[in-house]
Amino acid sequence: MPGAGSERRALLSGFAGACRRRRGLACVQPHGEACARLRPVSDPAPSFAGDRGTARYYDMRAAEYDDWYVGAGAFAERERPGWQRELARLTELVSGLAPARTLDIACGTGFLTRHLRGFAVGVDQSSAMVAIAQSRLPHGLAVVGDALAVGMADLAFDRVFTAHFYGHLPPPERSAFLAEARRLAPQLVVVDSAMRAGVAPEGWQRRVLDDGSEHRVYKRYLSASQLAQEIGGSVLLDGDWFVAAEATAAGPPPP
Ligand SMILES: C[S@@+](CC[C@H](N)C(=O)[O-])C[C@H]1O[C@@H](n2cnc3c(N)ncnc32)[C@H](O)[C@@H]1O
Repeated sequence: MPGAGSERRALLSGFAGACRRRRGLACVQPHGEACARLRPVSDPAPSFAGDRGTARYYDMRAAEYDDWYVGAGAFAERERPGWQRELARLTELVSGLAPARTLDIACGTGFLTRHLRGFAVGVDQSSAMVAIAQSRLPHGLAVVGDALAVGMADLAFDRVFTAHFYGHLPPPERSAFLAEARRLAPQLVVVDSAMRAGVAPEGWQRRVLDDGSEHRVYKRYLSASQLAQEIGGSVLLDGDWFVAAEATAAGPPPP
């Protein structure tokens, strides 16, 4: 049986050719964007929603997750021109959505969920994330559950919302998510990370938490038009950092 050490070596060997700025290993980007020079050569098959390591990573990351949004902790030194301004735009977009019964799938800490108007329910597989999200939803609910098999009735909601989840999904999980979203609500709003220069459009990223633990996460970056096309909808936000799109049951099915 391979041990943790060999698993870690196998993981790191998947990033041969990566830059070696720190610790003599592949580029250390603390749970952030992919290093532009990160060139995976023997990646494991892409997986996110069903990946046990990914689940463990987000559960461990819950307490420090919002550092990414607010530019604290490991992100305090990160240069992200226009980030705060665009985050304010994104927040406005979320709070500007019409009041509705909304299910936020993979809600994380509820950082965006709390801005949804109407009755909001957040679902996430991490109990640590759900506890934080619930503390932010005095009039809503946060529950532990699987994004690809939410235990709620057909059309229980007016809208499915999801942020920084869809863009992590490889094709089979993407299809499963879109089918589940369509089953649950007639409207889907997806927020994700914008494609930009200097990031690999897709691949396994190496993430490091504040405790020094190392993880890997599969992620894509999307243009607004690509996101809209993939979900069979239209663009809501086309930013430097964030993109968003909306699809409705009345629109064409995703390709
Ligand atoms: C990048 S975070 C996004 C959190 C939040 N939506 C946001 O935008 O801040 C991805 C989230 O997906 C959750 N997640 C991953 N796989 C999941 C699954 N199968 N079911 C439910 N949640 C899942 C993780 O626990 C994590 O909270």
